[in-house]
Amino acid sequence: MIETFLALPCGVKLPNRLAKSALSEQLGTIGSHAPDERLVRLYRRWAQGGSGLLVTGNVMVDRRALGEPANVVVEDDRDLEALAAWAAAAKSEGAVAIVQVNHPGRQSPRTLSPRPVAPSAIGLKGMGGAFAVPRELTVEEIADLVRRYAETARVCVAAGFDGVQLHGAHGYLISQFLSPLANQRTDRYGGSAENRRRFLMELVAATRAAIGEDKVLSVKLNSADFQRGGFTEDESILVAKALEEAGVDLLEISGGTYEVGAMMGVTQRESTRQREAYFLEFAERLRGQVSLPLMVTGGFRTAAAMSAAIESGAVDVIGLGRPLAVDPDFPRLLLAGKSSEVANIAPRSVGIRKLDAMAEVVWYTTQLWRMGRGLEPAVTKSSLVGVGEYVVKSQVPAVLRGMAGQLPVLGARWR
Ligand SMILES: Cc1cc2nc3c(=O)[nH]c(=O)nc-3n(C[C@H](O)[C@H](O)[C@H](O)COP(=O)(O)O)c2cc1C
Repeated sequence: MIETFLALPCGVKLPNRLAKSALSEQLGTIGSHAPDERLVRLYRRWAQGGSGLLVTGNVMVDRRALGEPANVVVEDDRDLEALAAWAAAAKSEGAVAIVQVNHPGRQSPRTLSPRPVAPSAIGLKGMGGAFAVPRELTVEEIADLVRRYAETARVCVAAGFDGVQLHGAHGYLISQFLSPLANQRTDRYGGSAENRRRFLMELVAATRAAIGEDKVLSVKLNSADFQRGGFTEDESILVAKALEEAGVDLLEISGGTYEVGAMMGVTQRESTRQREAYFLEFAERLRGQVSLPLMVTGGFRTAAAMSAAIESGAVDVIGLGRPLAVDPDFPRLLLAGKSSEVANIAPRSVGIRKLDAMAEVVWYTTQLWRMGRGLEPAVTKSSLVGVGEYVVKSQVPAVLRGMAGQLPVLGARWR
């Protein structure tokens, strides 16, 4: 079943049911935030791996609002050629390729955004001051953001991508609007569930108008935020129904925020652990309510669990994240009825529990960087080496960039 094609409502056909879920590559050029040959190499490698769908890591709609120092940003046509090379690499072996479009809102570190914007002026809790308290967006700024998302989508499709995915999960801006904890506005973007999803629905309408009816429009949505008083499963189902009505082609289900890392399996119960996928029970519930194609991401590791999920009818597409950072050929192996020796390898603890979640993401990120250099992942790399590499290659250049106004030579592009 994982090998059968899937025709999406827009008419685009996925050659199989395995998808690479978004993994933030942090491979934009420092200073200009453009894609370059590192992303081309990485996506050619993933294309060879056999996924039916490749979703890029998050691409930002505004260079003043970054989630990470080296995010790719698409605001206009200036990097069209580089984007076209990236799209061509991703599509080189027949996969469908879409760009994940994002704005971090309040989940932008203080080092990048001393004064981030968000639906309401409510800061992240329990993050040790790493994120500044945001300023509330004005209605005019919200309208400008809707225009930005649509323009980013238009440019990505013009470059050759098959469509886009709006990142409505994991506590970023769309997810902040959906959350009754993060969004305490009293205008038409806050209060009732309908008002809180208005921003997302406006983005869907504007993005569809920008990319056309025959391109893929996907949304990644949380099943829940897993916080008392936060975005719930019941509300997620209402949002999914509205998205189906609005003509969304593929709904990817995940969960959690920076405050609660459910997307990485932090909150999973034993019953979930046995079925691998963290959000399968929710997908089963959702399937009874909507008929648009569903992709479920988080925890899938074996062909048996993936086939069972597809055969149950609850899931149409299996999303894979971390396994493809360590074994880019995992989909090809699964499709050939084989398993992977390394897809389930995770970094070892750094010895400080509070740092483990961050060190894990960093370790996987540095595996993507290796593929961007034309190398294979190094699964034996220690977590601490990964963190060291990340600090030197990502954080230090970001600080230098901050100083580059005074010392232009330090603003040079970092590889
Ligand atoms: C290094 C790394 C970067 C990620 N970047 C993104 C991202 O840009 N957008 C997104 O929606 N999810 C992102 N995720 C979450 C994954 O898409 C996925 O939801 C998560 O890893 C769970 O799936 P898995 O168990 O197959 O890894 C990232 C995860 C990792 C490990």
